[in-house]
Amino acid sequence: MGHDKLVHIDDLSFSKYIKAKEIELKIEDIADAIREDFHDKYPMLLVVMNGAFIYAADLIRKLDFACELNFIRIKSYHGTRSTGKVDIFMPPNIDFKNRHVIIIEDIIDTGTTMSAFIPELEKCNPASISISSILVKPEAHVHEIDIRYPGFIIPNKFVVGYGLDYNGKGRNLQDIYQLAE
Ligand code: IMP
Ligand code: MG
Repeated sequence: MGHDKLVHIDDLSFSKYIKAKEIELKIEDIADAIREDFHDKYPMLLVVMNGAFIYAADLIRKLDFACELNFIRIKSYHGTRSTGKVDIFMPPNIDFKNRHVIIIEDIIDTGTTMSAFIPELEKCNPASISISSILVKPEAHVHEIDIRYPGFIIPNKFVVGYGLDYNGKGRNLQDIYQLAE
């Protein structure tokens, strides 16, 4: 840890927090749990863009059974703070009716995004809705969200890398970095 260089993005510095190898092992555990629950149900993975794109790409390749993949865009964040305002961009032609939907998220922070989106998705009458998020910040939650397949439980500090950005930068980092003291 101490030997790793800081990564600088705009005005902030970040230090390495979760290594790519640890992420890979965590995803294998999550994939095992999803397989057990949904292997014979042709679930629909619904990826929340942009942050979850790398997690989704890694997760889906660990799922060795039939599953569908769709993408939505939800925007709620500027800089390092949640705005509380949520914009949902849902493709008009996805049929959720009677489908088992697994929402794939990068991080559940305040829970504002999911608490706005879940009621919208429920209107489409899916058979079930579950959430997987590679990162969860319980201390930041202001909404109660049931996360069926959580990855890493982390403290309330801003992180980047592995799909997550700061001001649109840092998504391409292979490891996850945490805001340095
Ligand atoms: P929430 O609505 O507050 O739960 O946060 C939702 C979105 O904010 C996440 O899907 C991320 O895109 C973004 N976000 C929250 N915390 C972080 C962070 O620490 N780093 C980068 N993006 C974050
Ligand atoms: Mg997100």
